[in-house]
Amino acid sequence: RSFLQILGRTTLVSVLGSAGVFYYITQKERHPGQQLPHDPEKKTIVILGSGWGATSLLKTLDTTDYNVVVISPKNYFLFTPLLPSVAVGTLSPKSILQPTRYLTRHKKRAVTVIEAEAKEVDPINKTVTFEDDSEIKGAVSHTTIPYDYCVYAVGAEVQTFGIPGVQEKACFMKELTDAESMQRRFKDCIETAAFPGQNPSEIDRLLHIVVVGGGPTGVEVSEIHDFLEDDLKSWYPELAGRVRISLVEALPSVLPMFSKQLIDYTESTFKESKIDVLTKTMVKEVKDGSVILQMPDKSITEVPCGMVVWAGGNKGRKITQDLMANFPEVQNNKRGLTVDDHLRMAGADGIFAIGDCTSTSYAPTAQVASQQGAYLARVFAQLAKKGNLEKRLISLSQTISTASGEEKAQIANDIESAKSQISKVKIRPFHYSHQGSLAYIGSDKAIADLPFANGNIASGGVATYLFWRSAYLSTLFSLRNRVLVANDWIITKIFGR
Ligand code: FAD
Ligand code: NAI
Repeated sequence: RSFLQILGRTTLVSVLGSAGVFYYITQKERHPGQQLPHDPEKKTIVILGSGWGATSLLKTLDTTDYNVVVISPKNYFLFTPLLPSVAVGTLSPKSILQPTRYLTRHKKRAVTVIEAEAKEVDPINKTVTFEDDSEIKGAVSHTTIPYDYCVYAVGAEVQTFGIPGVQEKACFMKELTDAESMQRRFKDCIETAAFPGQNPSEIDRLLHIVVVGGGPTGVEVSEIHDFLEDDLKSWYPELAGRVRISLVEALPSVLPMFSKQLIDYTESTFKESKIDVLTKTMVKEVKDGSVILQMPDKSITEVPCGMVVWAGGNKGRKITQDLMANFPEVQNNKRGLTVDDHLRMAGADGIFAIGDCTSTSYAPTAQVASQQGAYLARVFAQLAKKGNLEKRLISLSQTISTASGEEKAQIANDIESAKSQISKVKIRPFHYSHQGSLAYIGSDKAIADLPFANGNIASGGVATYLFWRSAYLSTLFSLRNRVLVANDWIITKIFGR
């Protein structure tokens, strides 16, 4: 009995202790302390964007030596890998968002966060012009500010290739609003199909979902199949069996960046899940209620459907094209900004560019953008160190002329030491370390291509899915998001979507 009492007390003390520590940490996060104000003596870094690249930079950047301004039309960071889970209702939107201020309020020096869209970067006068594009506007909604350094991390937009109807009629999977509108639309298709007296061919049309693009985004959108299996079968038993998902890809296979073995595994999993994979098939037009397809034999077919989800890839934003137009000789890559191996924009002074808005040899992924952001934080730390040493050198050089004998020798020593320290400040080029590729393919299965000892390990299945979950849970930027996502997964498992 006494052993049980000791065990009981120890358990109670540990639970209460852990709860206390958890409460203390979260409250400290919620109520950060005072920050240093902006200092006119310091250089200003203007960061454009609040996505993967910008957030990773902000997370590691030491703001002691800089005034930092963040400009982005979204005042939050969006964890894109879990966006398809929001579209199918597995996760709630707030679980994968992190307010940018939640991060910047913990920095040593105050960071100004402005919810606005940058309209122009003037690389000659070193200014950024931005505008409040939100619904509610004040008397002032457009202004220009100067920068010493600009970190250009505005990402990319959806590539539609100018295909008729895509922009107006298809759902995208890029922003939070896209996931929300896809969910709304899917539910509307089901309810409309359930409308009394709906004729059978119309029901089949409404319940046909066409996903365009067999890249990782399109493949992950197929998570909609989980919604069908886990939830629709119980709540709409008369309709669930009639839902069809078609994945249309112009190339000969889906997921060209994964190994052959995983491509085959994905295609066979889709076959089991009754997801039709149409390769070598190109969408030519999206109409109200149908898509026009060019089939592998070049014939044209009109396929009725209730919803089209477009995941056809990325293209540069207009502001990026305008910025590139300032340097036509060096900025002529259609994929985005050309940068050197220190991520400096070719041709411009003081602009660094990271992530999907650049054209590098790396794939446009979160992994690359976040490593580039963290790299830039180290670059700025080195630049600040060098700048401080140079300032000290100038002040020592000014005082040496008026100094007396012994003092002079000491100052000369200090000058030599400062010079030697400056020469030691080396800024290494950016080096990308690939951690592997992961994708969820539905039915509690994921695929992973992981680098291992100069080779690759390819794995797929339920165990990989558990790895996928834990990898993304640990990649989430905050404790708050981790708790919310884990909680959503549990709630979905218990109560459904
Ligand atoms: P983004 O993260 O897109 O950020 C761009 C930022 O710039 C945004 O905050 C935007 O609001 C802001 N912005 C836009 N215009 C302006 C403007 N004019 N002025 C100021 N700010 C502006 N990659 C992976 O590695 N693994 C994955 O599992 C993965 N899953 C994905 C799933 C989905 C559904 C999607 C769409 C992408 C996925 N990616 C994944 C790719 C990854 O999201 C991108 O490569 C990554 O977001 C690029 O980071 P970025 O900082 O360049 O751009
Ligand atoms: P993507 O460019 O990788 O794939 C788009 C696909 O759409 C291409 O295969 C293209 O052939 C196809 N396509 C384009 N137009 C078409 C048409 N008219 N008809 C039929 N098919 C058409 O784009 P995606 O998937 O959005 O990915 C963008 C980037 O984000 C990639 O670098 C990717 O690696 C990354 N990403 C990574 C994820 C992961 O690692 N799990 C998940 C999502 C995105």
